[in-house]
Amino acid sequence: MSVNQSPTQAPAEERKKVSVRLIQAMKARREPISMLTAYDYPTALIMDQASIDIILVGDSLGMVVLGYDSTLPVTMDDMIHHCKAVARGAQYALLVGDMPFLSYQVSTTEAVRNAGRFLQEAGMNAIKLEGGSERAETIREIVHAGIPVMGHLGLTPQSVHKLGGFRPQGRDAETAFKLLEDALILQEAGCFSLVLESIPGRLARLVSERLAIPTIGIGAGAGCDGQVLVTPDLLGLFERFTPKFVKRYASLAGEMRQAFSQYKTEVKANTFPNAEHTVEMSDEEWHSLEQRLGKTNPSFIVHDEAVR
Ligand code: KIV
Repeated sequence: MSVNQSPTQAPAEERKKVSVRLIQAMKARREPISMLTAYDYPTALIMDQASIDIILVGDSLGMVVLGYDSTLPVTMDDMIHHCKAVARGAQYALLVGDMPFLSYQVSTTEAVRNAGRFLQEAGMNAIKLEGGSERAETIREIVHAGIPVMGHLGLTPQSVHKLGGFRPQGRDAETAFKLLEDALILQEAGCFSLVLESIPGRLARLVSERLAIPTIGIGAGAGCDGQVLVTPDLLGLFERFTPKFVKRYASLAGEMRQAFSQYKTEVKANTFPNAEHTVEMSDEEWHSLEQRLGKTNPSFIVHDEAVR
């Protein structure tokens, strides 16, 4: 027993790093899983302080941080750069790196190598990729290499052109059946978990009940084993558009605009910085400097004149 512990006190539970096994155990004990996206160090740090279970460095990076119209232009190097920053900020959450467009579709060998970079270079614990049965072989090989894989079905933004836009999926019996089939195939291929994006709530509940692995929903209702949101949407930071399923928990864009415009006003009015925000030197050092300046130093005088 430690000296600070009273005899009746249980030892404070040590906070553990979230693992893939823990995420799966959470499904077994029906504990909802919280997941959010992050792309930078300070956000990851704060998320870890809020005990978010999984941090996804999503390729939504392309739209909400880099300003593209879709996720398609995002590269492996973009992802690695942002994953590294997130890994420096979060030490407890399970860290999942999203494989960008064309990093896993060209060949299985390339897919395994790129997936490996997320763990080897970027400090991630797992990767996520989009697609159904057509990805089963790739997923098997990545898992074979010892890399945990999270699948992603429903609205898969990397297929936006094939899907005809960012629209809900699985709304008719045939596509709903195919989605359930794909989910079972991804589980069989070795995925430890599955994102279900923008599908009907009752379909998501059915898939979640049929699978042993946890589902994480976004725009898929409350029947999933966990939930994920794109953080700039949740924070009210990304205003270009807001999907129907997003709940805003803050209005940061408004707060930032207000802060920037107040800063500008104060700079223009010379009210910032004031004494409180200024470093000063002692009177003694200041007088000493004045004395030195007083001992005519031609270069100072010439420079002073030039400024005037
Ligand atoms: O890229 C992303 O942020 C995602 C989430 C929407 C799950 O894939």
